[in-house]
Amino acid sequence: MNKQDIVLSGIRSTGRLHLGNYFGALRNFVRLQETNTCYFFIADFHSLTTHPAPEDMHSNVRRIMAEYIASGIDPEKCTLYVQSDVPEICELYLLLNMIAYVGELERTTTFKEKIRKQPDNINAGLFTYPVLMASDILIHRAHKVPVGKDQEQHLELARAYARRFNNTYNCTIFPEPEAFNFGANLVKVPGLDGTGKMGKSEGNGIYLTDAPDVIRKKVMRAVTDTGPTEPNQEPTEPIQNLFTIMDLVSNPETAAFFREQYALCKIRYGDMKKQLAEDIVAFLEPVREKFEQIYNDKEYLGKVAAAGCDKARANAVKTITEARKAIGISKL
Ligand code: TRP
Repeated sequence: MNKQDIVLSGIRSTGRLHLGNYFGALRNFVRLQETNTCYFFIADFHSLTTHPAPEDMHSNVRRIMAEYIASGIDPEKCTLYVQSDVPEICELYLLLNMIAYVGELERTTTFKEKIRKQPDNINAGLFTYPVLMASDILIHRAHKVPVGKDQEQHLELARAYARRFNNTYNCTIFPEPEAFNFGANLVKVPGLDGTGKMGKSEGNGIYLTDAPDVIRKKVMRAVTDTGPTEPNQEPTEPIQNLFTIMDLVSNPETAAFFREQYALCKIRYGDMKKQLAEDIVAFLEPVREKFEQIYNDKEYLGKVAAAGCDKARANAVKTITEARKAIGISKL
């Protein structure tokens, strides 16, 4: 990764952030902000596809902003902002809609999935979700976009729009953004329900700001099995999942100890879960503390958002001005 690289990523403002978001994304954002020009934002427009209640919109944005900062995103080191504070994104969205083809949007996997999951609400915003996402990325002319596998098709569209815009208007305004994969650092955090990954909608997760007792209860309730029946057996998925989480939050010795107990068929899942719960509690303690310090400090959060908005807009205006010029939009 190059120092001049512009890195950008966003998180939709639905629900609270969980351990999966932390290890899958946030932890890497925190590293990236040290050596790159980073833009991180809260994608509140994107959350509108499901029509959240207005009173939830505001508190969700505030919560995610506080969770971002509590996890180590430093507004002094990156540009941290709220998508809806930057109207230039909407203007670029309109411009890109003119070069986005219906056919390619119809082929988007996430769209096809939504048709299946929410057949009563196939709105045009859902259909053009990738165009808005491309606008988020292209407005800052980002080079690297750290996202999960599920977003790679959207990124491909963003690349296509960058190319198409440049070709159509005979300019070189937009670089083609690449999905940035963390390689060995890319961890999928499993859920506590035995199968699959931790997800916002799955209800199988540990939130970054869960109180210690809530964490303990959730971990003690995690799905296990009836125990190994012969030495050195491969752990079943639910047990492997607990080991995966342990590898992330516990001492290596702790994980090694329980693996050995498992291999010897002497494991007591209750003990393992107790240990895991305490390690998660300890791991998240600083995040929760920082969150509690700032979540109710509306003045501080307001200042962070305003400063982020100024920085983001200063850059966005440059891009949109060039784009208008390339298209031939000018004052009479
Ligand atoms: N679509 C992303 C998700 O659901 C969120 C997002 C919106 C995003 N705009 C973005 C991610 C731009 C990266 C870059 O996770």
